[in-house]
Amino acid sequence: MSAQLVVGTQWGDEGKAKVIDYLSAEIDFIVRYQGGANAGHTVVVDGETYIFHLIPSGILYPNAICVIGNGVVLDPVAFTEEMEALRKRKIEPAGRIVISDACHIVLPLHRLIDEHRENAAGTKKIGTTKRGIGICYGDKTMRIGLRVGDLLNAERLKERLSHILEIKNRELRHLYGLPEAQLEPLLEMLLQFGQNVRGMVKNTSLYLNENLAKGKTVMLEGAQGTGLDIDFGTYPYVTSSNTTTGGAIAGSGIDFRYLKRVTGISKAYVSRVGEGPFPTELHGEAGDHLRKLGNEFGATTGRPRRCGWFDVELVRHAARVNGLTEIALTKIDVLSAYDTIKVGIGYKRGSETLNAFPTDGNLDNIEVIYEELPGWKKPIGHVLKFADLPKECASYIKRLEELTGVPIKVVSVGPGREHTIPL
Ligand code: IMP
Repeated sequence: MSAQLVVGTQWGDEGKAKVIDYLSAEIDFIVRYQGGANAGHTVVVDGETYIFHLIPSGILYPNAICVIGNGVVLDPVAFTEEMEALRKRKIEPAGRIVISDACHIVLPLHRLIDEHRENAAGTKKIGTTKRGIGICYGDKTMRIGLRVGDLLNAERLKERLSHILEIKNRELRHLYGLPEAQLEPLLEMLLQFGQNVRGMVKNTSLYLNENLAKGKTVMLEGAQGTGLDIDFGTYPYVTSSNTTTGGAIAGSGIDFRYLKRVTGISKAYVSRVGEGPFPTELHGEAGDHLRKLGNEFGATTGRPRRCGWFDVELVRHAARVNGLTEIALTKIDVLSAYDTIKVGIGYKRGSETLNAFPTDGNLDNIEVIYEELPGWKKPIGHVLKFADLPKECASYIKRLEELTGVPIKVVSVGPGREHTIPL
């Protein structure tokens, strides 16, 4: 009778979906609680690669029910495309997806504004995925959002959408010089989408809590990472939702007392896509080398990811903010190429040693204190047991455990389900 949560401890792309897949074999409900089609969750099963954006990765387990929680922003176009892509691969999602009636809808105009703002921002851009995420969450907070429940009643939808367009069209025209959105085609598209998903829509908070009370199990699937959290990330270079444990509760509506386990996913090095501070970043050839070794290109946008060494201060921050009970360490096989491996163990600014990851978003003039550990220079993708890892690799894992203060319970040595070592 419990829920568990998987969250990213860095800037996203930590390999969450792979670990969620590994931990979810016996889970009844897999729940997305924030973000939207900005996410790119990659799972490799039997050599086949699946990339999910909105649909929880649990869809690969035929008995799991996938829930899109109230905290998610749902893009009808992206959702429909993803459903069709699954059907093409002989995975029938019908009957296995439940959507919260309180999910906000990403409109085409949200994407348009996101893209326009990014393109016009020059050096001030955030580096968003241009999926309209921040604009949609902005409208949610401004109370001019449209929700899934609104799509199920034609009269209510027309009234609400007319009001929203009155405001958004002024913004499109006057702020951005963009063409206005037309009511009728948008109304038609949204009504049609409402009809398509009508059978999937529920009060998902009630649904999940009732099932938890019956002894069913829930996996909460985080998107992005702690460094991208709207409150605890490197603001303003963040996404527009709470990616962390608090967001999981608010974005799913489950009774927090069911939450028994919080697994933080940490890549054995760090990557970041988009703008924003990254203290342990490797620049130039060193960064290119790590990117190539780890094949670090965005699953949603294809953008090259910035890469750097493991940052203990960032993961300690994630441990605090999320209440991590354990860590799953991913992609450690990528480091097999190095003679020595650096770990950022602390921050200095001038002569002052910082006692924590700064929450004011100001990471200017940070100097990282590094420790250098010996590499193992052997492939480890085939290893099935911790005891069979090269001793330098085992020491690297144990040192990260010591420095972060969180037990490492899973180590991933390759992309497939089978490349996973429990500790
Ligand atoms: P947005 O979420 O599209 O508004 O983008 C805001 C920031 O979050 C940008 O730096 C994006 O690159 C980053 N971001 C959003 N989604 C992901 C993700 O799934 N993985 C990694 N970075 C992401």
